[in-house]
Amino acid sequence: MKTLIEFINEKQAEVPFATGDLTRLLNDIGIAAKIVHRDVNKAGLTNILGYEGGMNVQGEEQKKLDVFANKHFTEALQHGSQVAAIASEENDKIVVFDNPNSKNGKYVAALDPLDGSSNIEVNVPIGTIFSIYRRKSEIGEEADENDFLQPGREMVAAGYVIYGSSTMLVYSTGNGLNAFTYDNSVGLFLLSHNGMKIPEQGGIYSINEANYIYFPEGVKRYIKHCQVDDPTTKRPYKSRYVGSLVSDFHRNALVGGIFMYPGNLKKPLGKLRLLYECAPMAFLAEKGGGKASDGFHRILDIQPQSIHQRSPLFIGSKKMVEKAEKYMQDYSGEFHDTIENEGVVEV
Ligand code: AHG
Ligand code: MN
Ligand code: MN
Repeated sequence: MKTLIEFINEKQAEVPFATGDLTRLLNDIGIAAKIVHRDVNKAGLTNILGYEGGMNVQGEEQKKLDVFANKHFTEALQHGSQVAAIASEENDKIVVFDNPNSKNGKYVAALDPLDGSSNIEVNVPIGTIFSIYRRKSEIGEEADENDFLQPGREMVAAGYVIYGSSTMLVYSTGNGLNAFTYDNSVGLFLLSHNGMKIPEQGGIYSINEANYIYFPEGVKRYIKHCQVDDPTTKRPYKSRYVGSLVSDFHRNALVGGIFMYPGNLKKPLGKLRLLYECAPMAFLAEKGGGKASDGFHRILDIQPQSIHQRSPLFIGSKKMVEKAEKYMQDYSGEFHDTIENEGVVEV
């Protein structure tokens, strides 16, 4: 069995002149993932469930595990000194690591330390999402917000950890998608899915249908398309929605499916955050042969304007995302402009 560390080292050896910085960085993420795994696993026994008392910049109440996960991923990245600064869902502003080693870090990282917070209390899978960019500011200087405002196609690596019935770490440095399952007995992530491929077409659609009345016409019609009785195309598809992007994406990536979090005219950009939710998952989707779109544009081509910016998301099996895009373009063309104007339209 190959461990995560062995695998990362092997990958590094394939890259001429690699310095090992990215390797060390990914190792540090693996360590933070183990710490969060440990606490998620005994969450009912320790005093880690419930609310912290604070609000994050999006006005969402922070749970203790959100804050705990943020702290551990931040510390791991700061300690490693390959990363000059981080952007996180849980911090209003970027955090610039103020020490001489980190100033020389080549990379910046954007994080959703704990994804699916609403599932913590009820023992349903949650996750961590991370993405790594090469910084644009000079090495040796302080990193700044512009380092993060890069389209997703510039990403050097991305991944997620899913704390589910087993804990898994799935990542890509641009070449394929690989997944490691945590073996508690030896305390190691072991390679379990070498070169994960997302089926081109699947039989699952995932969306919070409670918002149906607010959906764009294109989404409403696409949902009806998913529900048509046509066994030759596996329809009606199954409807599955966990409420944690990581879990919904992970399931659909393995068996084939589409996850959607669209906007509506009141909130044209939807709920999910471009930098640390949509873009890293889009990077992983594409590396596994899938697709990710806001209905009109490739997610990885969107130029972020701010670190907490939102984006609609259609992600998963390539053919399913293409079909959903077609419905958006045919029936909800008005969203094209509202998305580009970043939600200035009021109803
Ligand atoms: P987070 O817990 O990091 O705030 O993210 C929750 C996100 C995402 O994981 C999930 O897909 C979505 O919110 C669910 O939203 P709804 O409850 O509106 O369906
Ligand atoms: Mn999230
Ligand atoms: Mn979160």
